[in-house]
Formats: sequence, C-alpha cells, structure tokens
Amino acid sequence: MDLRFDPILSIALVLVGVHFIVPIVYYLYARFRLLEKPWNLSISDVYKPKVSIVIPTYNEAGVIRERLDNIYSQDYPRDLLEVIVVDSMSSDGTIDIVREWSYNHHDIKVKIISEEDRRGKAYALNNALRYASGDVVVIADADAIWPRDALSRAISILSDPLVGAVSCLKKPLKPGVMGVEEGYRQYYNILRIAESKVWATPVFHGELAVFKKDLLERIGGFPVDIGADDSYTATRIALLGYRAVIPEDLWVYERVPSRGYTSWRIRRAQHLIQSFTKIIPEIRRAPKQFKKILLVESYIHLVNPWLLPLATILLLTSATLHHNPTSIVVIGIGILLLTIKPYRTWITMQLYLIIAAIKNLYNKEIIWIKQSK
Ligand code: GDD
Ligand code: MN
Repeated sequence: MDLRFDPILSIALVLVGVHFIVPIVYYLYARFRLLEKPWNLSISDVYKPKVSIVIPTYNEAGVIRERLDNIYSQDYPRDLLEVIVVDSMSSDGTIDIVREWSYNHHDIKVKIISEEDRRGKAYALNNALRYASGDVVVIADADAIWPRDALSRAISILSDPLVGAVSCLKKPLKPGVMGVEEGYRQYYNILRIAESKVWATPVFHGELAVFKKDLLERIGGFPVDIGADDSYTATRIALLGYRAVIPEDLWVYERVPSRGYTSWRIRRAQHLIQSFTKIIPEIRRAPKQFKKILLVESYIHLVNPWLLPLATILLLTSATLHHNPTSIVVIGIGILLLTIKPYRTWITMQLYLIIAAIKNLYNKEIIWIKQSK
C-alpha cells in the first residue's frame, strides 16, 4: 500500500474525527458528569399559581376532544385553570367541537379565539397571550397527551424562583410506530436532562411547555419570524438569567405522523436550526454555565453536520485524483458501518439537519402542512 502523506486525506480524517468526537465527548460528559449533579431546586408546595393553558389548533378535529378531556382530568385545581383555544381558520370544525365541549364542562373556564387568517402557531400563541389571565402560561399542542400529574409536577418545579420555564420528555403515543430510533432518543433525552441540571436546555417541546408569564412578556412573547416557538422562547428566558428545565421523569405522549415522517423531522430540524441561528448574536450575554451549552448545541446543530459531506468530498477527491487507496478504504468503512443501527441513525439525523439548513434558505415552514397522525 502506498503510504505517502496525502494532505487532502489528512484533512478529511480530521473532519471525520471532529464530527464524531465532539458529540460523543459531550454526551459522555453529560452522561457521567452532569447527570450526577443535584438539581439544586428549591421547590415550594404552596406555589399554586393561576394557569392559562393555550392549545393552538389548526385542523385538530380528530384529537381536540380527547385533548380537552385530558386537560380536564389533570390533578391541578380546576378553579385555577383557564383553557385558551386559539384556532387559525380550521376548516374541519375544530372550533365547533371546542364550543360543544365547553358547553358540557361548565366547571372549567374555556376561552376561544378564532383568528381570521392563518399566520402560524407563534402568532396564534401571542394572540392567546393577550387574553391569558394566569401567572403561568402553558403551551399544550393539540396532538399531545399528558399523564394526570404532568401539569402539577411542571408547576411544582416552576415554584423555584430561579426557574422560568419547564418542559417535558416525549414518547410516541403508539409505541412501535415510526419514531426516532430508541438509541437516538436516549442520547437526546440525556442531553436535555443534563443541560437542565447545569442551568437550562435550549431545546423545549410544545407538547408541554410551561412559562412564567411575566418573563414571556419581558421577551416580547413568542417569535413569529421562526418556527421554534418552544425552544427559542426557553432559550431567551435562560438568557434573562432564569432556568429553563426538562426534569428527568416528566413524560408526555405525542402523536407521530402516520405518513411523511421524514418531512416532519426535517421541518422540526429546520425550526431548531432557526432557533440556534437567531440566538447566535446573544450567546455572549448568556449566563456562564448556559453559554457553554449554547455554544456546543449551536455547533452540533449548525456546523457539525456539514463536516461529513465536506470530508466525503475530500475523500472522493483523494481517491480519484490521487488514487490514494487509504481514502478508498476509509470511504468503504464509512459505508459498511451503515449496517450498524446507531451509526445509521446518527447519519440520518445529520442528513436531516443538512437538508433542513438548505430548505431554510427558501422556505422557513412558519406555516406548515397538517400531517395526519
Ligand atoms: N392556531 C394555530 N395556527 N395553531 C397551529 C398552527 C397555526 O397556524 N399550525 C400548527 N398549529 C398547532 C397544531 O394544531 C398543534 O396543536 C401545534 O400547533 C403543533 O403543531 P403540529 O402540526 O403538531 O406540529 P409538530 O408536532 O411537528 O410541532 C413540533 O415542532 C414545532 C416546532 O418545530 C412541536 O414540538 C411544536 O410544539 C413546535 O412548535
Ligand atoms: Mn405535534
């Protein structure tokens, strides 16, 4: 074998190395160092704020009744709850179902806001915010299901004066349906919890996202120019110096699309990329512990995926132009490894992020197609 020094091959190997080492080291550090840390929360049982639960809806007739029942059966005091359904011109009768449900449940306050056109989820949330009378505002996506104690547990964490926002971990409602592979979900969840223990996680979930209202007002409400209303809002609250946390045992169920799983994941990746991009100019103002998290997560979402195609191009160049057999072997190994599931899942995620970044250049998906679930 010809073992001449090949600078192109060397650069490619460095890129591949960095691509895998950064997330792996971050994960190991999170798993074995940060996860052991105490929560350092000062929780008060007397904290029972008035809560406005906002359900944004666009054509949710199939699920909205079950969602309202689910909220109704929460173990949080009902007289402290207010449900605000904000609908953006659904054409499937969502609002009629909400009206009928409200008529049959007089012991819970329901406000219905019917928008005259569809301007996206965040816009609708801001609209709801104006009508919210609670001290706490909760985003409750229509297609999610909460365990009975989900809300009360989130609120109890919010009782810490330093906590500004709380969210959840997610499970697919029907196990076994297409979903992110188990391994990836574990990786993802551990990062969320570890980051929360340190200070805050920059990734939140609209299936259950709880915010102190005064903080929402301080940051000017939800962002209407990007899609990640949940993650970006949590990040902004963390930048104000409050914690935005996902506790380790607060699970909610989400419906996963029956078709179009890939485009669903790509859209979510698009929104996360938008959130991390929008936050870049503010990273320097972040509280110390959170700054590191933001730097690493922004890197992992915005830069790291691109090292792979870059390395592939270099390897192909070195293999074809310089006929370097080592490059051919490296490419071969990269392809062979695809038979290993965690590796394949990881590569798929990277592809989603790359496609999402490209799609963001021409369509930000602020208003997205409703997928059947
Ligand atoms: N009012 C209103 N107007 N509600 C909307 C609109 C709109 O234009 N578009 C979507 N919604 C509602 C849906 O009815 C649902 O209750 C919720 O917003 C989330 O929409 P889904 O269609 O379920 O999207 P998803 O599950 O892929 O969204 C995920 O990612 C988003 C950001 O990328 C969730 O995590 C969302 O919470 C998150 O905002
Ligand atoms: Mn959803």
